[in-house]
Amino acid sequence: MNIFYTKTDLKAYLDVLKTQEKQIGLVPTMGALHKGHISLLKKCAKENDVSVVSIFVNPTQFDNSDDLIKYPKTFKADAKLLEAANCDVIFAPSVQEIYLENVAATTFNFEGLEDEMEGKYRLGHFNGVGTIVKTLFEIVEPHRAYFGQKDFQQLQIIKKMVASEQLPVLIKGCKIHREEDGLAMSSRNSRLTDAHRKVAPMIFKTLQEVQEKFTLEPVESILKWVEDEFQKQPLLSLEYFTIADEKTLKNCVHKDPKTQYRAFIAVFAGEIRLIDNVPL
Ligand code: PAF
Repeated sequence: MNIFYTKTDLKAYLDVLKTQEKQIGLVPTMGALHKGHISLLKKCAKENDVSVVSIFVNPTQFDNSDDLIKYPKTFKADAKLLEAANCDVIFAPSVQEIYLENVAATTFNFEGLEDEMEGKYRLGHFNGVGTIVKTLFEIVEPHRAYFGQKDFQQLQIIKKMVASEQLPVLIKGCKIHREEDGLAMSSRNSRLTDAHRKVAPMIFKTLQEVQEKFTLEPVESILKWVEDEFQKQPLLSLEYFTIADEKTLKNCVHKDPKTQYRAFIAVFAGEIRLIDNVPL
């Protein structure tokens, strides 16, 4: 496994592989890797000749500086995990290497996808994500790139960016990996207190009940039911729960049988913000 810290070194290495017509896959990450990331890498390795995993905690996508400072940084453990999972290349640039002197996001037009859900609560977040993902695509020039569905809105936004800017990369969405008790795997889970970790599976359990209710009850009563459930659990605070069209991410008011919906949730467990979603 090769580890590169600069664009120049990585590009020089990949250029040789490109002249050999090797297929290159990219898994962008912010490190603090877990089994969910490794499953992205495995899929990437299956579908490409060379797998590149980037590890970069991107400052421009954090709307909360405390969250950025406290974001777990575990490079040595990450590199070990990636080596064991047969990763070919790690790209771990510094902030200066990516942004030079101007640590700022570009403004994108994601055609309204950025205004829903996460966009309402994390101002500027998706411009930061778009900026780093586009930059990584320009550096690596991957044939395929892999993203988890836990960040479903991010996945749709990246697909939109790739389509509207006609970027030559295929975006692959991969299913959510869960702990045995259903909690969606996330780098942030390691920061949960024992008490919060114990109650956090309620998030997925609630979503599973929503899946059952969706065919039987009007949306409005499901929204109310979810709110009431979280009212009963003082350790978890519901930020939003919504049922939305998978494509437009607009709220579902009246169910349309031709539309594919998904339930989305964001919850604070103490100071840790957790998100999850399920298809309906
Ligand atoms: O999903 C993430 O970990 C990040 O948003 C990403 C895609 C690596 C961009 O920094």
